[in-house]
Amino acid sequence: MFNSCASESNMQSIDDRLNSLLSKMTLEEKIGQMNQYSSFWDVTGPAPKEGSAAVQFEQLKNGLVGSMLNVHGVENVRKLQQIAVEETRLGIPLIFGFDVIHGFKTISPIPLAEAASWDLEAIELSAKNAALEASAAGINWTFAPMVDISRDARWGRVMEGAGEDPYLGSKIAFARVKGFQGDDLSAPTTIAACAKHFAGYGFPEAGKEYNSVDIGTQTLHNMVMPPFKATIEAGVRTFMNSFSQLNGVPATGSQYLQRTLLKDQWNFDGFVVSDWGSIEEMVEHGYAKDAKQAAQIAVEAGSDMDMQSLAYVDHLTDLVKSGVVQEALIDDAVRRILRVKFELGLFDDPYKYCNIEREKATIGHEKFQEATLEMAKKSIVLLKNKNQLLPLKKKGLNIALIGDLADDKTSPLGNWILAAEKNSAVSVLEGMKTYEGNNLEFSVGVKLNTGALEFAKELNINTTDKSDFPAAIKLAKKSDVVVMVLGEHGFHSGEGRSRTQLGLPGLQQELLEQVFKVNQNIILVLNNGRPLVLDWADQYIPAIVEAWQLGSQSGNAIAQVLYGDYNPSGKLPMSFPKSLGQVPIYYNYKSTGRPTLPSTDEVFWSHYQDEQNAPLYTFGYGLSYTTFAYSNLKINSQTDTTIDVSVEVTNTGNVQGKEVVQLYIKDHFARPTQPIKSLKGFELIDLNPNQTKTVHFTLTETQLGFYDNDGNFTVQPGDFSIYVGGDSTTKLNTKFKL
Ligand code: NOJ
Repeated sequence: MFNSCASESNMQSIDDRLNSLLSKMTLEEKIGQMNQYSSFWDVTGPAPKEGSAAVQFEQLKNGLVGSMLNVHGVENVRKLQQIAVEETRLGIPLIFGFDVIHGFKTISPIPLAEAASWDLEAIELSAKNAALEASAAGINWTFAPMVDISRDARWGRVMEGAGEDPYLGSKIAFARVKGFQGDDLSAPTTIAACAKHFAGYGFPEAGKEYNSVDIGTQTLHNMVMPPFKATIEAGVRTFMNSFSQLNGVPATGSQYLQRTLLKDQWNFDGFVVSDWGSIEEMVEHGYAKDAKQAAQIAVEAGSDMDMQSLAYVDHLTDLVKSGVVQEALIDDAVRRILRVKFELGLFDDPYKYCNIEREKATIGHEKFQEATLEMAKKSIVLLKNKNQLLPLKKKGLNIALIGDLADDKTSPLGNWILAAEKNSAVSVLEGMKTYEGNNLEFSVGVKLNTGALEFAKELNINTTDKSDFPAAIKLAKKSDVVVMVLGEHGFHSGEGRSRTQLGLPGLQQELLEQVFKVNQNIILVLNNGRPLVLDWADQYIPAIVEAWQLGSQSGNAIAQVLYGDYNPSGKLPMSFPKSLGQVPIYYNYKSTGRPTLPSTDEVFWSHYQDEQNAPLYTFGYGLSYTTFAYSNLKINSQTDTTIDVSVEVTNTGNVQGKEVVQLYIKDHFARPTQPIKSLKGFELIDLNPNQTKTVHFTLTETQLGFYDNDGNFTVQPGDFSIYVGGDSTTKLNTKFKL
């Protein structure tokens, strides 16, 4: 039985229903809607009797909880929803949030890997499938997409984003929101998305997790903001603020970010959830003197829902009753939260995501495995292929497969695998075994890590035990070709996993060099959640395949690429440094006053004494088993508002292949100055051998503009160059005047 307000007719507009509900709510009930808890109770067990769990349980029964996170499974969700709907005075349903970041039970490639596909349809489908699976398990809200731009591979969370570029990041942000939310948020198969972490979280000083962010207006508006704005255009219903402080103000307490920009200028009418405990953390930041003041600051700033810090439920009633906080602010926050619940259809049927039959029929369905395999293949980037060592012949080879990660069925799942089963991915060993024409032998080489493998725990890397070296070296010696699967474990990147070294962790580099001494025919398959420093490998290893953490079907995807049944077309969404000291490194940097090597041997130019300026592998880079030639770049027409550009691309190799055709602009003279190159368009094309396609791009005047130092958008006339090619270093260009 639903309580009265849950069964109210859907005929009235959401606004009418909202107003009517709001008018019935006590102050405490309103504040309750702003309170979110992580699962505090094993819902299938007895109700908690003591401690904080018991207090939270009582609050739930009294209508003082508006949302839960980390509860999943129809039975669990239903049990909690039942309490909210049937036992509280007004019966307001809960909204259930979960980190559906790269899949739910079926795991897709980590977001950074998916970004490498540059395939927006595939990325949208991946989010759609994740929503389908998660919603069948009772979830109606995901804390995704993370749209934080980042240039610093030391920061472990780059695995969750789309890399360094605001244009690519915006397109992907849009696609992901569309995928999760679909066209009808009230359908039981779609879930509300959450753009996070607003804002600047991807720029922590020195790449250290949760560290302060200090960036200027231009970086904030031209680099950080575009993907967030794209999520607004896609209709995202929630935002999450960030743990970090931005220019001295914790994002959670920033009126500028949440009210001025997001809610006033961008007209966002969904709600903002804090990050986990970030309201109370303003005390540690030195911004609020205690939790009570933190609650005041956060609510005034526009943080609508408190994730797990309890500051709202503990202090807001007092703050309102004593006149410190205006009730109108509470009403505004509650209205936003309830609106999303109405849009999800929770008031019409609070159990719409709780269909046990659908859960059984949906979770882990074969069609998700097929889709994630396609996505995984599209995410692979071929970094090097000297003498066409790849693809492998299918018969007659003795192949040594070496590396702990080659036989790992958990690591390929990546970091956000809260609902997935450990040990459930297809390993590289399993994937390669499906090709039976060769003689495949496996040797671990070196254990990568020791001890616990958990989302919340430090990963211990093996730095001492080399006992598995000899067997691997012996195997390599007698083999025709060696496939080495090295890199980071899935729990080596992600939240709280910053690193100061970006080489192959532990003893893997040493193993690689030892194996190289006995067999130089090495194919290095990388598993990692961030750009690595691969300078040695690039110098000596003939073939390098970037395979990230590719999810449930990882091993099959890798095997199909190695054997040429899939021609890789991924392109890097983030630059790979040549040396650690280059970080942060990104393609869209500003020129200096001394950008080039002078003709004399003087030192007075912008450079390092001991390293080149360029990264090892640039943004947009990736090879194929075929080759592409670009020609005939031209401007076909120019009006006051648009420029039509075309280029011819030919497949000059022997096999069919896909290419990401990229268009960059350079604004030669601007105030403030602009990056040396900025991505403004791309298209993924498919070409047969000898086939040529003409690719058209339409550049709009707005795409040529930028935000100035006062945060105002400006389009400045002048000289521009257009560069088109297969990566960000392309030289093919043409010019125009605006
Ligand atoms: C903290 C993370 O920063 C955020 O992205 C995530 O959604 C929440 N925890 C909830 O798990």
